[in-house]
Amino acid sequence: MGRVSRSPLSQRGQVEPFHVMELLKAANQRARTHGDVITMCAGQPSTPAPVAVRQAAARELSGDAPHGYTDAMGVAALRETIAAHYLSAYGIDVDPASVAITPGSSGAFTAIFLAAFDPGDVVLMTRPGYPAYRNTLQALGVRVVELDCGPEQRFQPTVEMLAEWTAQAGAPPAGLIVASPANPTGTLITDAELAAIATWCEENGVLLVSDEIYHGITFTEPASSAWQTSRSGVLVGSLSKYYSMTGWRIGWAVLPTPLVRTVELLLGNLHICAPALGQVAAVEAFGPEAKLELDGHVARYRVNRDHVLARLPELGVRTWAPADGAFYAYADISHLTRDSTAWCREVLDETGVAITPGVDFAPHRPGVDSPLDGSRWFRLSVAGATADVDEAMTRLATFVARTAP
Ligand SMILES: Cc1ncc(COP(=O)(O)O)c(C=O)c1O
Repeated sequence: MGRVSRSPLSQRGQVEPFHVMELLKAANQRARTHGDVITMCAGQPSTPAPVAVRQAAARELSGDAPHGYTDAMGVAALRETIAAHYLSAYGIDVDPASVAITPGSSGAFTAIFLAAFDPGDVVLMTRPGYPAYRNTLQALGVRVVELDCGPEQRFQPTVEMLAEWTAQAGAPPAGLIVASPANPTGTLITDAELAAIATWCEENGVLLVSDEIYHGITFTEPASSAWQTSRSGVLVGSLSKYYSMTGWRIGWAVLPTPLVRTVELLLGNLHICAPALGQVAAVEAFGPEAKLELDGHVARYRVNRDHVLARLPELGVRTWAPADGAFYAYADISHLTRDSTAWCREVLDETGVAITPGVDFAPHRPGVDSPLDGSRWFRLSVAGATADVDEAMTRLATFVARTAP
């Protein structure tokens, strides 16, 4: 019998790279040989977990607890703490049984997408938007439709856009993902608009996945939660951003009743559980001592955001996202390049400043001439020390003055 030749790779596994990870790798490589790297590409705090969390982890480790597998949905104490957090922060009564603890919010997204969407289903998200939604959904065979959300919409979707899309398609999508504050833009969906979106989704049988992982990092008003309007959607949270515990890999989902059991079974099979030590220690992240410390970080992000937005004109930038929260600045650099990947690489090589090309968030589409094309934008994270953020802006301004076309 002849050899059967089959590619060892699946088609659905051929996802876009997460460009920020490539940049981070290059920045880490440079850091080993040069002493000048300022990393502004990664979407993570530059600070450790709150002291109370680290103390709790140290106490745990000095005892005899085995830290073996936990329940697939997580340890009861953390699920209860998170449920209580929804009551105090948003006035929402959440049953701990509907809270699933996951390996980062990334673990929640995979389980939710698998539980709720079949291959061929349509899910809407924004362009620009967080790339892992698109790439994970596509790997699962789900059709992702990106809605152009530019400066006029403050980079966020509206009910009118959803209704218009549905009228044109002839049927509503299976799902909609929103993030407020968003990555890469940091913009918020207003309370009224989020309420209108949640109501529209419930009325049209659309699963709303509300990514609320940047809650706590807002500079104007606190972000509202989709469950303040409708409990038919899913809320996603994480310890990675406000709570400064990115590498601990703990996130969560708050699930509508019909999804709970399916998500539990999927989580048990996909991950068994989220890291046990972190789950136990994470309870302290919601205490008053941690809050004081974490709110201090938010105050610094705000100062850094103000510095960066005020200095963007030094790069000749005229258009940027008016970040209400998160820790990013997303800016139009179309006067400097139409290839943000090459430009960001050059910036790293020439200045030691690592920033992220916009193509992560709005991939270049050959033949489509869009002002939102990510090849014309870049994102920088303002989560570092204020002195580093200022130094990075000075280096960028010098680089642009030397190289601008
Ligand atoms: C909008 C958004 N959602 C989800 C994630 C995933 O975060 P994690 O898995 O660390 O909770 C990120 C990470 O940057 C993000 O920006």
